[in-house]
Amino acid sequence: MPYAHATVLCQATAAAVAAGVRAVALEAAGGQTATDVLVVDATLGGGGHSEAILRATADAPHVHVLGIDRDPAAIEAASQRLLGFGPRFSAVHGCFSELPSLTGGRPVAAVLADLGVSSPQFDQPERGFSFRGDGPLDMRMDPSQGPTAADKLASVRLEDLADVLFEYGDIRRSIGTARIVLDEFQKGATTAGKLADRLAARLDRSRSLHPATHVFQALRIWVNDEIGQLESLLAAVPALLVPGGAFAVITFHSGEDRLVKHTFAELARGQHFDLPNRRGEVATAAEVASNPRARSARLRVLTRASANVGPSPAKSKKWRVKNDNDDEELEENQRKLDTI
Ligand SMILES: C[S@@+](CC[C@H](N)C(=O)[O-])C[C@H]1O[C@@H](n2cnc3c(N)ncnc32)[C@H](O)[C@@H]1O
Repeated sequence: MPYAHATVLCQATAAAVAAGVRAVALEAAGGQTATDVLVVDATLGGGGHSEAILRATADAPHVHVLGIDRDPAAIEAASQRLLGFGPRFSAVHGCFSELPSLTGGRPVAAVLADLGVSSPQFDQPERGFSFRGDGPLDMRMDPSQGPTAADKLASVRLEDLADVLFEYGDIRRSIGTARIVLDEFQKGATTAGKLADRLAARLDRSRSLHPATHVFQALRIWVNDEIGQLESLLAAVPALLVPGGAFAVITFHSGEDRLVKHTFAELARGQHFDLPNRRGEVATAAEVASNPRARSARLRVLTRASANVGPSPAKSKKWRVKNDNDDEELEENQRKLDTI
């Protein structure tokens, strides 16, 4: 089956990465020479972003793109697709939480993470991600290891599942929903389709979304420890970026976007990092029309400041993030500081 995934925010992401690569090339210091510039695509998928980056840096044969994916099927498909780029591209199977060891601790000019699942993962019923098919409740991005969603549901405590639904699915009445999920699972709803049908019968149907949508999203994030993975990536990459380098992350739901936004804002308050676009970039109406997955995508870019330029005056002002409700205030404060 062909590996068909429509890459979101492709041009903007490749442009951000290529700008990082150019800035790195201009740096006198930084530990990389013009013969050794490493770009990491931490979520290789079908290789759409990698291909765009390789094309955008075609005039720089010393730029090497390393693709990482935890799904062996993605590694195989993208490696085939990018064969024509020869030694400029290589791929490795693994989790991006292991990025420092997968890159051998080498400094990097740019890192890209396009979070979540790919269309082929979602569309194949046997992977169990979609409630529109009736595959086993698997949901592992790497089918070769770790417990499936069914394994985890078989042993989870009610309160812990409620936390999962609340944290990763934004489900307000999470104890009640968790009780229904466990009840139906224990009564034999052990495939994606059966569980979705039972949830549709018992959960509120007043919204336009299928009632199982947020439950399935939460289970998937839980099974793949997506937030833990993202936290590790956000902790590791800034220390590996060379001056001028770029870190681009595309998020698809509020939990992961909050994490990226606050981590980047925190780093940009110091002297070594900048946010070229504080609000991030979203897809155009035209892109959303042709690829509905793009609707909730947001690209955030963090750049490592040049080694040769001092901090901007705004960086010396201090202000505090109190909690998530302060986001608007945080951005308003920053806008004011940026105009000083
Ligand atoms: C949205 S797709 C990426 C699509 C890709 N940018 C493209 O244009 O084809 C996300 C991919 O990241 C992989 N992935 C998600 N979390 C990962 C992690 N923690 N470590 C490695 N790969 C991960 C998934 O297996 C999936 O193939």
